[in-house]
Amino acid sequence: YRIAVFASGEGSNFQALAEAASAGSLGGAEIALLVCDKPSAPVVQRAEQLGITAHLFNPKDYESREAYEHEIVLRLEELQVNLVVLAGYMRLLTPVIVHQYRGRLINIHPSLLPAFPGKDAIGQALEYGVKLSGVTVHFVDEGMDTGPIIAQKAIHIVSGETAESFAQAVHGVERELYPEVVSWFAQGLVQLEGRQVTVARKS
Ligand code: GRF
Repeated sequence: YRIAVFASGEGSNFQALAEAASAGSLGGAEIALLVCDKPSAPVVQRAEQLGITAHLFNPKDYESREAYEHEIVLRLEELQVNLVVLAGYMRLLTPVIVHQYRGRLINIHPSLLPAFPGKDAIGQALEYGVKLSGVTVHFVDEGMDTGPIIAQKAIHIVSGETAESFAQAVHGVERELYPEVVSWFAQGLVQLEGRQVTVARKS
């Protein structure tokens, strides 16, 4: 079972997925490719250190989003990727990828969706003053963080919480939840029907 991870930045989720794969806790999945739109991002160095193939591109070199996505799809097909895993990929996808990988394309978002979609969900939650937030893994559709939800984990926001302490808590939960969800896919446990997602848990 082969996954591609799309990331634009730090890559802590990429790292967690790679570590889970080497530890054998990703349901037998391996990372076949990193796709990154920022060749200078830290995630690229992580891939190099781990010996994971990277497809790097600069969107400015292309006429349109569709043009660079076509190239990505060719790469995904060539490597026979089963699941596309977005992990801090800071670009909206066009139908070129969304249609081709419908039901096989997931994202992780640092809030309990549908609350606080879009950028800086952690800041939005703190600013609003909610006492409960968390992490969501969901299928990707054409919208911004609107696809069917696969899994969520809640995190309490305690009094005196800072942006830093809350972000740390969120990232800690992400590093556990994302590999777990990917392992469900690799084991064929996730079903999507319309907007309804069912997970046939083994444990
Ligand atoms: C994560 O918080 C994820 O939820 C969001 O972007 C961030 C990526 O962090 N979509 P990293 O690059 O994996 O460290």
